[in-house]
Amino acid sequence: MCGIVGYVGKKQALEVVVAGLRRMEYRGYDSAGIAVISGGHLEVRKKAGKLVNLQTLLGSDPLPNSTTGIGHTRWATHGGPTDSNAHPHVSEDGTVAVIHNGIIENFAELRGELTAAGVTLTSETDTEVVAHLLAKTLPAAGNDLVAAMRQVCGRLEGAFTLVAIDPRQPDLVVGARRNSPLVVGVGVGENFLASDVSAFVDHTRNALELGQDQIVVLTAASIRVMDFAGNPVEARPFTIDWDASAVEKGGHDLFMLKEIAEQPKAVADALLGRVGNDGRIQLDEMGLDDQALRDIDKVVVVACGTAAHAGMVAKYAIEHWTRIPVEMELASEFRYRDPIVNARSLVIAISQSGETMDTLMALRHAKDQGAKTLAICNTVGSSIPREADAVIYTYAGPEIAVASTKAFLTQIIAAYLVGLYLAQVREVMPGEDIAAVLADLADMPGKVDLVLDTVEPVRALAREFAGAPSVLFIGRHVGFPVALEGALKLKELAYMHAEGFAAGELKHGPIALIEDGVPVVVIVPSPAGRAILHDKIISNIQEVRARGARIIAIAEEGDEKINDYADHVIRVPVVPPLMAPLVATVPLQVFACEMATAKGHDVDQPRNLAKSVTVE
Ligand code: G6P
Repeated sequence: MCGIVGYVGKKQALEVVVAGLRRMEYRGYDSAGIAVISGGHLEVRKKAGKLVNLQTLLGSDPLPNSTTGIGHTRWATHGGPTDSNAHPHVSEDGTVAVIHNGIIENFAELRGELTAAGVTLTSETDTEVVAHLLAKTLPAAGNDLVAAMRQVCGRLEGAFTLVAIDPRQPDLVVGARRNSPLVVGVGVGENFLASDVSAFVDHTRNALELGQDQIVVLTAASIRVMDFAGNPVEARPFTIDWDASAVEKGGHDLFMLKEIAEQPKAVADALLGRVGNDGRIQLDEMGLDDQALRDIDKVVVVACGTAAHAGMVAKYAIEHWTRIPVEMELASEFRYRDPIVNARSLVIAISQSGETMDTLMALRHAKDQGAKTLAICNTVGSSIPREADAVIYTYAGPEIAVASTKAFLTQIIAAYLVGLYLAQVREVMPGEDIAAVLADLADMPGKVDLVLDTVEPVRALAREFAGAPSVLFIGRHVGFPVALEGALKLKELAYMHAEGFAAGELKHGPIALIEDGVPVVVIVPSPAGRAILHDKIISNIQEVRARGARIIAIAEEGDEKINDYADHVIRVPVVPPLMAPLVATVPLQVFACEMATAKGHDVDQPRNLAKSVTVE
């Protein structure tokens, strides 16, 4: 959360930075701000609200020409979303401007120290202390911003990406990172800093990863990376393997609609190259040796939000295929409860962004306990895959809409591949059974495509139910995490009360929520799969229907029996039971998106949320 952009080069910094901020807005949109160096002094414009407010301000109060600038889009932590809390923050003497992503945990103590020294703070943010600390450190550091940044970083606790400029060194942009993301864009006669590569992919596809506790110093012609002690560090270069069109709407009204539509391709890309000519799964990039995978005696999945729902789906499949116990745990709970993990545990961290702080901290805790760690991630070069022992990338392409869609489907695919690979190396599943599941997976892009062709009635239903005070979702087996995901989407986008339940659990309490007219979305298991689950869910439907619920069933083609129990039936193609989440989730995404649109909400940037949550 919070998006950061820095630029030094030959172009107008304003244009580069504002365009970058537009790409970074998914990370937070409580305020936006920009600082440039011009004529030996700083010029700052900042405004509460979305980037468009800053752009309006820039229209009436333009910035002068400049080729060095920084910009920020904020997700508020310390202090509300006001103009004065917006970044950049400038030191009292006007010598340094700073932007920040993260939380400085010892800020109260530092603030007290600054106040005692007579500094007047003008915002409620933790960030502002850094601007004043830099200004106070600069004279003793020979007015060298790099040296001052190193010293100040040594005093900070918590998570931070900081980027600072000083008009006395007008051709310099200095960044620092601990726990929060920052990547470098390597240009020709210009260089870039940003929270992620989409901010500069229009200008260059060459990038550098920065590690923990590192400082980067950019000029138009050079990039220096060092640790906080000033020792030079070799940064790992990487190439961005998609182009700028991947982060544009491409003819769709919303990023979310684009990303929903991209799901067949995303699923296909997630599977690409994962099966060798001999029909065996090859996860070459993974980097965990097979003996280590034979030795594990349990799997723990840690993740947050939608990724946690993918982890829940994976638990059903991995246990079924491998007979290894799988726990799925919310990352934010994992490390604070003394979990039992050791060298024989495989801890899988699932994260679209690769930067979710809760997940990163859970991963570190697992490593500290000696566990083998594996990241399932969409963002190449991000913190979680960098710190894990092994990584499987999901190759969904950039996901911009805050509510996750294609990442979810590809996380399931990647986790399934890991499960099948475990079954393969541990020889617990006959080769032909693994091949059969792989064939099912290979069919999934086509099946998801079929769902997309038939979602129009879902839109009509969403509009019909847009006035409902709440919507409940129920499912069994892998349909249970799908129900949770359907409810999460509705909460995120339509801001309405929505809950997902295991259908069998409903009668143990939540059924008290049912009253006349309450819509209940039911993820109906295949009658051809495990018929017992189908029978049981029909019983659950009857329990809520008898109390006035209106039933929207997500059921497979040919399940005629469901017609007698549902007010509305949304059809999905017939797929094997473990593949059902890949098709059943799609109508729920469309349902939430359409309902939010009907209510006039900003679908891509829902209130209070950020896509990449880099604070605990
Ligand atoms: C945020 C987003 C969710 C996402 C979760 C985990 O809360 O709003 O959509 O599922 O973070 O994100 P990750 O990047 O770790 O998958």
